[in-house]
Amino acid sequence: MYTQLPLTRRTIEAYETHHDLFLREWNKRTYTIPPLLNEWGSHLPKGGLLLDLGCGPGQDTRFLRRQGFRVYGVDLTWSFLQAGKRRSPRLPLIQADMRHLPFSSAEFEGIWAAASIIHLPKSHVRTLFRKLFTLTKPGGWLAFTVMYGREIGVPRQQWIPNRYLAKWHKRELKKTVQTTKWEVVLIERVKNQERKGAWLNVLARRPN
Ligand SMILES: C[S@@+](CC[C@H](N)C(=O)[O-])C[C@H]1O[C@@H](n2cnc3c(N)ncnc32)[C@H](O)[C@@H]1O
Repeated sequence: MYTQLPLTRRTIEAYETHHDLFLREWNKRTYTIPPLLNEWGSHLPKGGLLLDLGCGPGQDTRFLRRQGFRVYGVDLTWSFLQAGKRRSPRLPLIQADMRHLPFSSAEFEGIWAAASIIHLPKSHVRTLFRKLFTLTKPGGWLAFTVMYGREIGVPRQQWIPNRYLAKWHKRELKKTVQTTKWEVVLIERVKNQERKGAWLNVLARRPN
């Protein structure tokens, strides 16, 4: 049934189908600040404008707003955005594909993307980083996490099956980020931090 669908549509359908499962799991957990978010946040000016890309139900968006930042959350899964809005009606959550963002100028001080770029085909990621570069002020900061490894595809055994997942290797990812002019400040493999398994944490800066 799913095999004919484009990868992003398939992934979002999987999240819509299993949104209860995802939300139940996240509601069970006490919010802990991802260590990379802390590190990224330490570079950002007070009250700066931020983008949470692939924000899901917006737990990081909410946290950042509470810290005094101005922040937009963007995601394609409507059920997640609705859940975020139910909890915090004033949270600015926008439904959009991260490849077609409704912003056009270098207005953000920082962009955060936790576990969302893993859902993009690798051939789209370079274009995304280029676009994020143009949306970030000179001296601004990008931080994101992706799954570590080599597998690419639509695993059936995941807790939310039928999502497209692309894992990344350090060298490949660093090269991809750097070729889009970002300066990579940190790229580190971590295990069982805010998410189970091996992940890559990346912090990059748009040069002045
Ligand atoms: C694993 S969840 C992570 C959500 C949140 N960032 C977090 O840390 O809990 C991945 C998110 O990426 C979103 N996503 C996947 N592809 C997307 C796309 N092309 N544009 C916007 N959001 C997308 C999904 O809807 C989902 O909410």
